[in-house]
Amino acid sequence: MKKYLVIGNPIEHSLSPLIHNFWIKKHNLDAKYEKKKLESDNIKDIINDLRDNRISGINVTVPFKNIIISHLDELSDIAKETQSVNTIFKKNNKVIGENTDVFGFSESIRQTNFNPKNKKALILGAGGVSPSIILALKKMNISEIILSNRTRQKAEILKNSFPFIKLIDWGQTIKFDLIVNATSIGLKNNEEFKTDYTKQGGQLFYDVIYNPLHTNFLKSAKKSGIAAENGKNMFIYQAMKAFKIWHDIEPEINDEVRDLIK
Ligand code: ATR
Repeated sequence: MKKYLVIGNPIEHSLSPLIHNFWIKKHNLDAKYEKKKLESDNIKDIINDLRDNRISGINVTVPFKNIIISHLDELSDIAKETQSVNTIFKKNNKVIGENTDVFGFSESIRQTNFNPKNKKALILGAGGVSPSIILALKKMNISEIILSNRTRQKAEILKNSFPFIKLIDWGQTIKFDLIVNATSIGLKNNEEFKTDYTKQGGQLFYDVIYNPLHTNFLKSAKKSGIAAENGKNMFIYQAMKAFKIWHDIEPEINDEVRDLIK
């Protein structure tokens, strides 16, 4: 039986096992997918498990998407550009890091009515997921990306990799068409932003968070008659691409799959 893992810390809340095991069962694969809480010191051992075929694939989540890179043999172009890896597999005896978050985010935006071409985006947060969102929006021909992060220095580090982004101070607002919450504000129930971003009249409020599905950030948009999208589709599509890489099967995304994420 092939074994797959999602590693992170914390990991209890990960819904990746749910969706991957659903597809594994659907396609009658002799495999299982588990979650594993890891300390940074154990990354090397897990990668060795993959090298020695004790594990067949790994998903990576917070806070290891970047630091895992030093343990890998090769990166895909997108993983290189974002310096963020969420999917690992072995090919020709090499351990390869891929990023399927960029695909997940782009695909989820395509499912909305919002076309980023020639639009202006404000990204909140400079954590692990922000590089993927920046690259996805850039590839979708957005005209301007503005980023705001509580710790200015982290935003500046991101600007070194993506010099085309503009930075504004935390709490400052600016006109935008799309706003993305890429912070962890809202993960815990009733957490909310001190700044009211609905005053800028954007077209789409997007929250990377999918658990809970309805953050205060998205509720505020809906209340103001602005379209709101949570991170559920991004999560499903990044999982779909990882599944395709490991099993060479493109799993179907339907209501049954969407209902898994509540
Ligand atoms: P990491 O920073 O380890 O990559 P993350 O969960 O990917 O972790 O990112 C957390 C993001 O949420 C960061 O942008 C963080 O801002 P800082 O860089 O200032 O830490 C942001 N964040 C979390 N809690 C916040 C809060 N209460 N107010 C403002 N920003 C917050």
